[in-house]
Order: sequence, then structure tokens, then C-alpha cells
Amino acid sequence: MRTQIVAGNWKMNLDQEESLQLIDALKKSTFQSQAEVIVAPNFTALSACATALSGSKIGLSAQNMHQADKGAYTGEVSAPMLKGVGVNKVILGHSERREYFREDGVLLAAKVDTALAHDMQVIFCFGELLADRESGQHFEVVRMQLTEGLFHLPRESWTNLILAYEPVWAIGTGKTASPEQAQEMHAFIRQTVADFYNSEIADNCPILYGGSVKPDNAPLIFSKPDVDGGLIGGAALNASDFTAIVNAL
Ligand code: PGA
Repeated sequence: MRTQIVAGNWKMNLDQEESLQLIDALKKSTFQSQAEVIVAPNFTALSACATALSGSKIGLSAQNMHQADKGAYTGEVSAPMLKGVGVNKVILGHSERREYFREDGVLLAAKVDTALAHDMQVIFCFGELLADRESGQHFEVVRMQLTEGLFHLPRESWTNLILAYEPVWAIGTGKTASPEQAQEMHAFIRQTVADFYNSEIADNCPILYGGSVKPDNAPLIFSKPDVDGGLIGGAALNASDFTAIVNAL
């Protein structure tokens, strides 16, 4: 069975103190599901969070990283720097990075390569805009994002990949894809991976859904066979909401 995962993307919301408070609350939470739980605080909080999480089952991810290992890239953070503070996972390709920071498929492919070369697990995000869905282009857009970001990888790399389908129109908007829309796209994603690689890789790859997942809609979305968990933004900032979402898996 493939791993089920709920990851909390805290975005640029909690400072170090607030991140540690949330970690404290999550450590006291009762997670009843078998799902792997991951949190992604901002860069400045990662080191302290790594210490706070040592010995706990909750995994720690960065929200981004640079594709070079080191160099004159003012303001950036590299994979070795993340590993050096105990972070071995990274979210790449989030729609906010694609939209506000102009990260495209070529850049993301380079970031994915670097992360994997450092043996980091990658949570790779992609998803269509509202206009793509309204014009019926959503499957093609998703296929293109997968092709550009990931399909250059050798088969072995897929053991370190988690996919996160996040329709941009559902992120932070309160609109979720219906469980049927999520299942339809997740099945398409799995089939696309199976066609390009093989069905074993596709069947073993976790595909998370993201976009306005809340405690009340999580059970139905997670009940779909190709939805292996969620990438949670807003609701991940509240320990009881996040715990309820984890327990919906
Ligand atoms: P949201 O964010 O749950 O607030 O919609 C999801 C995400 O951006 O990963």
C-alpha cells in the first residue's frame, strides 16, 4: 500500500515562537490514522522546529530551496543548508512560487534534481488555473507540468517523490474541488505516470490533494481511491483542525 500523508504548509504565517507553539500542540495531539504527518514552517523557524521535533514521528519540510548548492545568490537557501539543520524534505513548485516568483518548469526541474541529489524527499506541487479548467485545458496543463518538472527523472528517483495536485482556483479561496473532480484528476495523474514510467511506480506514488481542505470536507475527499492525503494551508495553522484532517484519512 502506498504511504498516506498529510502535510501542513504554513507559508509565511508563523514566526519561530508561533511555529514552536504549534509544534507543541501537535505533539500533544492524538493522531489516530496511520498517515505520515509533515509540517513545513518558514526558513527561520526550521532549525528550532527540527530540534523540537527530534524523536517525534512528525516530519519536517522546507517550503522552497535554491537549485545551486552554494554561491552568490543573495537571499537564497540551499539543499545542504537545509540538510545541515535536519530538514530532509522540501515543497517545490507550489503555485505561489510559480505565480509570484515566476518559477517555471525548467527551474523546477533543476530544483527537483538538486533536492533528489541530496537525498531529500520532494513534495512536488502542480495544478491548473481556473481559466484552464473553464476552457477544458486542465488535463493538458497538468500533464505538461508533470512532464516539465519530473519526467526527465530516472525511475529510481520516484521513491523520493510525493505529488501534490493543487488546483490554483481552490487554494486559499474556500472553494475545493469536489471529491469527484479530485478523484478524476488524481486518476489521470496516476495513469499519466503509469504511461510514461510504469504502473508499479504510479501505484506506489502518493498523490496528495491541496486546496481549501478543512475538517468538514476532508473525509469525502480522502475517501477517494486515488487521493492519498492532503497538502493543507490555512487549516494547518490550527492544531485541532489539522489533527481532525489527519484523522480523516
Ligand atoms: P489552502 O492552501 O489549504 O489554504 O487552500 C493549500 C496550499 O496552498 O498548499
